[in-house]
Amino acid sequence: MDEKFSKSSRLDSAYDSDPTSVPATTSAPDYASAPEFGGLGRKVGSIWPGNRILVTSSYSVPLGEYRRMGESLGQFGDEDSWDRSPRPSRGSLDELREQWRESRGRLYESRKPLGIRIVHLSDLQGACFGAENTELLERVAECDPHFVVVTGDLVDRRMAGLNDFEPSIRFMGKLQKIAPTFFTYGNHERAFHPSVVDELRMRIENLGVTVLDGESTTLELLNDERDKINIFIAGLEEELLMVEGKNRTKKNSDVDVLSVKKSLESMVCEAEGKEFNAKILMAHEPQFIKEYSTYDFDLIFSGHAHGGQIRLPGVGGLFSPGQGILPKLTSGVHPAGEGKMIISRGLGNSSFPFRFFNRPEIVVVNI
Ligand SMILES: [Fe+2]
Repeated sequence: MDEKFSKSSRLDSAYDSDPTSVPATTSAPDYASAPEFGGLGRKVGSIWPGNRILVTSSYSVPLGEYRRMGESLGQFGDEDSWDRSPRPSRGSLDELREQWRESRGRLYESRKPLGIRIVHLSDLQGACFGAENTELLERVAECDPHFVVVTGDLVDRRMAGLNDFEPSIRFMGKLQKIAPTFFTYGNHERAFHPSVVDELRMRIENLGVTVLDGESTTLELLNDERDKINIFIAGLEEELLMVEGKNRTKKNSDVDVLSVKKSLESMVCEAEGKEFNAKILMAHEPQFIKEYSTYDFDLIFSGHAHGGQIRLPGVGGLFSPGQGILPKLTSGVHPAGEGKMIISRGLGNSSFPFRFFNRPEIVVVNI
């Protein structure tokens, strides 16, 4: 390991005592006992079933300092359990989903990683890591991503407005210079008046960042072997989870999950008839994992939970908005239908002003 990333501290020891494990198989979704890789930093796992060794790894970025906490490898899934239904005729959404399954089956048959690195950032909440986020940008650049996903709460609802957003907007522009960057809103962006959100979007898009708010797009890129890779990326419309006209999110029981599914369905339909090497969803809030999973995304990137704010070894996070005490979805890799949900512990803080055993993190996913 690079010496500058291998410093030890009492805090590191505390992290090391927190148990992590990657299950041997994931033939059925298990939302309650998912593995984590989060700020422990040494968690790594194969995120796809089959024989393809695809690795996720996590990096922690404390303020003013950066440590890579170590890593390990794992693999789970059973290629034989994969659904290899014959291709149906096109038409209904169910048929479309079958086609997606089949296209992924072909992907697995290649038994070869895509050779793509994704950096996942979330919940900056207007914070800066070094002047103008220089430290954070340097760490992202060192990860050498093929593209970057930023899953909301770039700014914080306690900020005064656009003038306060400037450092975060400039940060997004600099990220885009490192690699193509995709952004979806969190509840903190959506807490502002729609005119402010529109202005934020315009400013970010003018810097080249792709904003996906109930929208999808495709990305064509070359992996390290110069193979052409096609990726489908969608961003959930966070507004669906907000109380209309208010600057706060709905209770989970008040969320119209049908509207969430319809939004996802409309985005999935954009992919109909096309083949992709990977289908990705960015969704700020992880607690609707079952709804997200309906559409067979290969990867779902979420944040929002800030790792549960305070983490206790052997217990995990203590609280998350939308999930309450002892939340299950705060960090790490979780089964999500036939794919995986990746949850970032985020970078900044909001109304709860500090973290405990819960480092801010850059998540790097190799697929
Ligand atoms: Fe959030």
